[in-house]
Amino acid sequence: MKKKMISAVMAVAVAAGLMACGSSSADSAVSTSATSAASVQAQSSSDAETSSADTSAAASASGTITGDGVGTAGTLVMATNAEFPPYEYHDGSNDEIVGIDAEIAQAIADKMGCKLQIEDIAFDSIIPEVTSGKADMGMAGMTVTDERKKSVDFSDTYAEASQVIIVKNDSAITSPDGLKDKIIGVQTGTTGDIYATDDFGDDHVERYNKGMEAVQALSQGKIDAVIIDREPAKVFVADNTGLKILDQAYTTEQYAIAVEKGNTALLNNINAALAELKADGTLDKIVSKYITAE
Ligand code: ARG
Repeated sequence: MKKKMISAVMAVAVAAGLMACGSSSADSAVSTSATSAASVQAQSSSDAETSSADTSAAASASGTITGDGVGTAGTLVMATNAEFPPYEYHDGSNDEIVGIDAEIAQAIADKMGCKLQIEDIAFDSIIPEVTSGKADMGMAGMTVTDERKKSVDFSDTYAEASQVIIVKNDSAITSPDGLKDKIIGVQTGTTGDIYATDDFGDDHVERYNKGMEAVQALSQGKIDAVIIDREPAKVFVADNTGLKILDQAYTTEQYAIAVEKGNTALLNNINAALAELKADGTLDKIVSKYITAE
């Protein structure tokens, strides 16, 4: 019965041109999902006619993952900045973008019946890309902040994170207080950038396009510390000798996926998918593939 209702909902959505993913409208790149959506439509068109009134209520009540809310037919476009291991980075061997976010996004797209397309852009271009509708979602180890909430809507959170301080092994800096009057390297537009600028002043913040570049500048003695998210910090410190992460974190924060303000259809789909991926252990499995417990 439930299956029949879902089919009917899909048929109605396809007919109304609302369903962006798995749409049957001339999209050869997604021929498999287009075919299945089309056959669902054909199969259940009579149900749809007779039960369209109650199916829309059923769809919103049960949080069914319909694929609705995506701008590009058949494709969920994710904007990211793939300079952020282990969340998103280029796999050395074939330059593919891999990582925790890339895998979670693929799992969400699968549940929505969409193809995933990842766009690698500057971190501070991700929110503009989402607000302009060029990307369906921004997923980039992105911290939820009140300021960002003014321009985008955030999904449920999917990771706990923190900003940490990286210094040279022989540094006199031992805690966040020690950063006063020092030069702090950050990735442009990140929460590390925003909070360090607030706390220590613009003159004390050196901005880099990539977190790794900030860490290299620290290695070379050009700056005194780097503020960056803990997991990439661990990767960068392991790749550069003579650096350490201070025990005391600078902030704690949470990661979520950003969508265009008011796109509740997509937001509901993402949240429903995330809930399923959390409940069935997929999320934990993806995380533990990239982050080994300490
Ligand atoms: N969590 C930080 C923020 O939201 C940094 C994220 C940087 N992500 C990236 N893919 N470079 O501002």
